[in-house]
Amino acid sequence: MQKRKVGALIVGVNGATANTTIAGTILQKKGLIPGESFKRGMLTEDDCLNEHDLIDQTQIVFGGWDVNNNDAYEAATINRVLDTVLLQSVKEELRKIRPMKAVHTPHDVDETKASDYSKNGTSLQHRIDSLRKDIASFKRVNGLDEAVVIYLGSPLKAQGTGTYRNLEKFKKAITNNDEGLTSGMLYAYAALEENCPFVDFTPNITLETAALLELADVENVPLAGRDGNTGQTLMKTVIGQMLKIRNLKLEGWYSTNILGNNDGKVLSRDEHAEIKMRDKLGVLEPLLGYGDFDHTVNIEYYAPRGDNKEAWDNIDFLGWLDQRISVKINWLGRDSILAAPLILDLIKLVEYAQRIGEKGIQPHLALFFKNPLGTKARGFFDQYM
Ligand SMILES: NC(=O)c1ccc[n+]([C@@H]2O[C@H](COP(=O)([O-])OP(=O)(O)OC[C@H]3O[C@@H](n4cnc5c(N)ncnc54)[C@H](O)[C@@H]3O)[C@@H](O)[C@H]2O)c1
Repeated sequence: MQKRKVGALIVGVNGATANTTIAGTILQKKGLIPGESFKRGMLTEDDCLNEHDLIDQTQIVFGGWDVNNNDAYEAATINRVLDTVLLQSVKEELRKIRPMKAVHTPHDVDETKASDYSKNGTSLQHRIDSLRKDIASFKRVNGLDEAVVIYLGSPLKAQGTGTYRNLEKFKKAITNNDEGLTSGMLYAYAALEENCPFVDFTPNITLETAALLELADVENVPLAGRDGNTGQTLMKTVIGQMLKIRNLKLEGWYSTNILGNNDGKVLSRDEHAEIKMRDKLGVLEPLLGYGDFDHTVNIEYYAPRGDNKEAWDNIDFLGWLDQRISVKINWLGRDSILAAPLILDLIKLVEYAQRIGEKGIQPHLALFFKNPLGTKARGFFDQYM
């Protein structure tokens, strides 16, 4: 039987995470990855998920939107995540992947708003219609059974929730070209109208919009989000739960990071970092069940490192007889290498969820996110169970 072909349309397809996911998958398709290294970091490659009829990542066809017109090879040379020898071996395939024009709103980063590789200049309804046409034609041209949309655009300026409490209000806001609607909401709306599952890997307020949850319910579409849990916060969900289980009392957790990729640059601006900081700071208290400890998080943009993030943590807690114990963690790794396998997992899992009739927020995907929607579970082991 012919294998299903599934589209993954990525918002921010030229960004470091999306682009690395694509290049790595092509390397695997071409048999250029040694041994089982393509499985590292992926839950869906674990034996326990074998009984489910998940697609293989080599069945995924990639495309998406960005605010620049670079092909995926040019993007990879700018992102500098994978080394040049690896990239050369998939250059031909990467050259064929070029983004479709983006949409942006006042919440986007200033450089994004300055881009003319966009559908802007038309009404919001036109932009949504154009995104819907992009999805439909991508499916048709590539002979796809279905497509999922993954949101990997930059962190937007902080927005509130609750404005669009139902679909009717949301539709009215579209007609009125309401400036409160974010680009993320427009992508999500178009995806849901086209019956595509939507995953939000960013720290943006998109799937908290009640109107979009209503639409997912009407269209029978699964959703997952938000803000990928890949490094320092992942360690918090593991060690924090260990402290809780062992009845060790946290006194303080000091975290700092340096990173020099484009995401780091965007996050160096306070208005774009606000929700990410909230997500990072918000994980420990609900996990531990108390809040009387110091918790500091810094993200510093440091260009020489590029995608090679370095994180330091100092954890102080009280052991038996209230004697202090300290743990230090120094985490080094390419941000996009941490995230790419999660993106592949999420594509496979939401595609499967839709095939078996699931809809709305998928709370069992909590361990992929810093701020998982639809569940109170914050500890890694609770989320895994
Ligand atoms: N890599 C990780 O470990 C990780 C973890 C958690 C969350 N995230 C989030 O995932 C997202 C992607 O991360 P990244 O490192 O790839 O960032 P990146 O800056 O390399 O990529 C973002 C891409 O989105 C594009 N973009 C911005 N606004 C857009 C719009 N309106 N429409 C279409 N494209 C748009 C940019 O041009 C860029 O190519 C960020 O929001 C980041 O905070 C990443």
